Amino acid sequence: MDGRIADIRRAMEDYFGADGKRIGHALRVTGFADEILRSEPGDRELVLATALLHDIGIREAERKYGSSAGDLQEREGPPVARKILEGLGYGEPFVQEVCSIIASHHSPGEVDSDNFRAIWDADWLVNLADEVDCSDRERLPALIGKIFMTATGEALARKIYLAP
Ligand SMILES: [Fe+2]
Repeated sequence: MDGRIADIRRAMEDYFGADGKRIGHALRVTGFADEILRSEPGDRELVLATALLHDIGIREAERKYGSSAGDLQEREGPPVARKILEGLGYGEPFVQEVCSIIASHHSPGEVDSDNFRAIWDADWLVNLADEVDCSDRERLPALIGKIFMTATGEALARKIYLAP
C-alpha cells in the first residue's frame, strides 16, 4: 500500500488496537475494493481510504449503545474517519465523500456513485457467507445478481461462492 493509504491503514490498526477481527475485516474489504477497481471505474485513493475506515464507527456504537447495528455504525463512523483523515492532511471534499459513503454503507440508494458501488461490493464479498445461506445453490445465483452492484463484484462473488 502506498503513501497516505499506508498511513490510513496504520491509523485504523492503531484505532482498533487488539481487535484483530475488525482489522482483518477492513483489510479484506480493502483487498477486494482494490481488485474491483482494476476493472471498474472509481477513485482508487478514495475507495481504499473508505474501505479501510468503513466500519470505524463500530467501537463507538458498541461503547455508547452496546450494539454494532448497521445504522449506529453509519452514524458513529464519520466523525472518527474525519478525525483520522484530517489528521493526515486530507481536505474537503475528499473527507466529505469518504464520510458520506461510510454514513450509508449499509443503506443502498442514499449515495449513487462508482466509489460507493466499489465499497458496497467489496464489503458484500466478505460478508456474503455470514448474511445469506450460501449452501442454497439454487437460490444463490439470483441473490448474488440482486446484491452486487458492479459486474466485477458479481463475477468475483460467483467465482468465490459458486465455484464447484
Ligand atoms: Fe464491513
